[in-house]
Amino acid sequence: MSSRLKRSLAVLAAGVLALAGGGAALAAEKVFGQSLLEPAGPQAEELYKAMMFDIYGTAVLFVVISLMIVYAIFRFRDGKSKDLPPQVDGNRSLEVGWALALVAGLVIFLVHPVKAEFIYETPPEDPEAIDVKVIGHQWWWEFQYPQMGITTANELIIPAGRVVRLSMTSDDVMHSLGVPRLGGKDEAMPGRVTRMWIKADEPGNYQGQCMQLCGKSHARMYFRVVARDRRDFDAWVEQHRNPKVQTSGKGYDLFMQKCAACHTIDGTPAKGRAGPNLTYMGHRTSIGGGIRENTPENLAAWIESPQSLKPGAFMPGAREESGPMPPNQSRFPATNLSKEDVQALVDFLEGMK
Ligand code: CUA
Repeated sequence: MSSRLKRSLAVLAAGVLALAGGGAALAAEKVFGQSLLEPAGPQAEELYKAMMFDIYGTAVLFVVISLMIVYAIFRFRDGKSKDLPPQVDGNRSLEVGWALALVAGLVIFLVHPVKAEFIYETPPEDPEAIDVKVIGHQWWWEFQYPQMGITTANELIIPAGRVVRLSMTSDDVMHSLGVPRLGGKDEAMPGRVTRMWIKADEPGNYQGQCMQLCGKSHARMYFRVVARDRRDFDAWVEQHRNPKVQTSGKGYDLFMQKCAACHTIDGTPAKGRAGPNLTYMGHRTSIGGGIRENTPENLAAWIESPQSLKPGAFMPGAREESGPMPPNQSRFPATNLSKEDVQALVDFLEGMK
C-alpha cells in the first residue's frame, strides 16, 4: 500500500471516528434533554431555524466551491509546460463583483440571527403572561411568583403555552440561566436585574443549567422547567398558596431543630432563607438542585452527605461540615443525624405532597 493511500485512509478513519464521537455525544445529550436539535418553544425554534439555515447554506457553498475548484484543476491543467501561465493583473469588474457577492452572502446569513435577536428582546403579547423572579445562588436557583405569593426552588413550574417573563438577579456571584430546548439564556448578576422570557409549547420537563462559571459546583447547578397544562398549573398554584403541612411527628420536629434555620416550609415556623424553600418537597422531580431524581433513597443520600453529590455545598451532612462559606470561609458543623433521624426527615419531606 502506498504511503499516500495509507495517509488518505488514516484521514478517512479519523473523520469517521469524529462523526461517530459527535453522534454519541448528541445521543447522550438527548438522554439528558438539553439538545438544541429538539426545540420546544418559539425562541428555540427560531434558533433552530438559524442553525439549520447556516448548516444547509454552508453545505451548498461548500459543494459549489469544491466543484469549481475541481473543474479548474482539470480544465486548466497543463502538465508539460514549465512556463508560468499568462499573468492577469487586476480586473475591476471581477473584484467589485466578488466583494458584492461576499457582502450579499453575509447579509443573507445574518437574517435569521437578527430576527432571533428581536424575538429574544421582546416577549410576545400575552394577556395571561406570568412573571417570575429568578435568584441565582451557589449552587441552586430560587423562583418567586410575585403575582401568586409563591416561592419555590430548582423547579420552575410554568403553564404550557403561556409567556413567562423572567427578571433575574443573583445573591452571590454571576450565574447564567439557560434552557436549551426552550431557548434563551441570560446572566443573573448580583445588584442588577436582567430580563428574558420563555415559553413552552407543550407540557413536559425541560432540563436547564447554569451557564456561567460560578464556583466549585457550577457544573452541577441544574434546574428543571416543568411545563404543565392549564388545569395542572392552576391546581399547583392553589395548593402552594394554601399549603397544608403535617406539623407534628419525629420528622417535623427534627426539621424544626436541624433544618429550619436555613430552609423555609410555608405554613410552618421554618423561615430560613439560606437554602432552598422546601414547601411540598414531595412534588418535586429532583433533589439537590436537579442533581438526582427525587426518590427517598436519593434524598436520604443527600441529607447524609451533600458534599459527595455536590462538592462545596454549603449544607452540612450528617457527619461532615459544610463547604467553606465566603467571604469569611466559615463552615456549618455536621448535623449529627442518625440513620433513623435521616429516614424520619425523608418521610416528612417526601410526605409533603
Ligand atoms: Cu451558577 Cu454556574
